[in-house]
Amino acid sequence: MDRRTLLHAVSAAALASSLPSCAVPVQGPALPGAGLQDNSALPPWPARLTQIAFGSCIDQKKAQPIWDAILAGRPDLFIFGGDTVYASTQPWLLDNLQKAYSTQAAQPGFARLRQTVAHLAIWDDHDFGLNDGGADFPHKLASKQAFMDFWKLRQDDPRRAREGLYHAQIFGPPGQQVQVILLDERWFRSKLRVTDQRDAPGKERYLPDPNPAKTMLGPDQWRWLEAQLLQSADLRLIVSGVQVIVQGHGWEGWANFPAEQSRLLDLIERTQAKGVVFLSGDRHIGALYRHERAKHYPLFELTSSGMTHAWAGASEAGPNRMGELVTQNHFALVELDWPARHIALTLKGSAGQVLQRHRIALAELD
Ligand SMILES: [Fe+2]
Repeated sequence: MDRRTLLHAVSAAALASSLPSCAVPVQGPALPGAGLQDNSALPPWPARLTQIAFGSCIDQKKAQPIWDAILAGRPDLFIFGGDTVYASTQPWLLDNLQKAYSTQAAQPGFARLRQTVAHLAIWDDHDFGLNDGGADFPHKLASKQAFMDFWKLRQDDPRRAREGLYHAQIFGPPGQQVQVILLDERWFRSKLRVTDQRDAPGKERYLPDPNPAKTMLGPDQWRWLEAQLLQSADLRLIVSGVQVIVQGHGWEGWANFPAEQSRLLDLIERTQAKGVVFLSGDRHIGALYRHERAKHYPLFELTSSGMTHAWAGASEAGPNRMGELVTQNHFALVELDWPARHIALTLKGSAGQVLQRHRIALAELD
């Protein structure tokens, strides 16, 4: 997208056309210390969640005062929704990614959070390694290894033994269970259909591709997701790097593959998964969206993107957006009031000020 393109001098279209159409992933060199991570440094998993913080799009080279506001709220869990570092300049070099991770690790607020707050992470394009990149990015295996080591995944973590980085975890006792599902929308993702009218509203970078063979998640992750949605949970946070239900723009999103978008909504219906709320990033804006369904509860999506460099000049048609765009640096909170069985979806600014808040009864997501 524009902001990132400017920042990183990367043209998605130029890159897409310069990539081989069926590039074979190449294993990068092993990282020093790979497999020797000390997991004892990780904070313990919380027994119950009442406050979940979420954010994405963190430029490792920029000042990050926002961590003070996040830490002051003492969240039980922080979810990194992608672009935790920016290391997508081409040609891609493992050394650049490792330097980016080292720079980010040295950010004092981030370091404090990693030591004191349980956290989960998924990647998006800029920590994956290619702006708007997908399955044919040739360095994804080396990038994945660096991700797993940076986030100190245990040696027996299933993500180490399978393709991609999708992951799910359930927190809390029965009746107060929160399931966090992190989708990998990079590893398996088919080529996007490049726009014929760059920057035109609604078709800024990509056009919907009706080809039913195109995939966002790939067969293995689809099967896995169905199994996850069949598990019981009171609230289900589905973390998606790119926006899911959002319409009216031609940036990246599930709308790039309408058949895959429908498949996701159909799967949620078919599994009768209750309590679904989407958390997404990528756009360098914050906003809350609502997708009405004929016979089922509405699906909400909270987009929080831009902890260090939100897009001050952003605009979008946003036909299903609730409220205004947040165009300043921000993070998101999902606050759970278990006795009242309410959740609040909140966007907060760098100083911790509330920018938007919307309360939803869990019964509305049943
Ligand atoms: Fe980003």
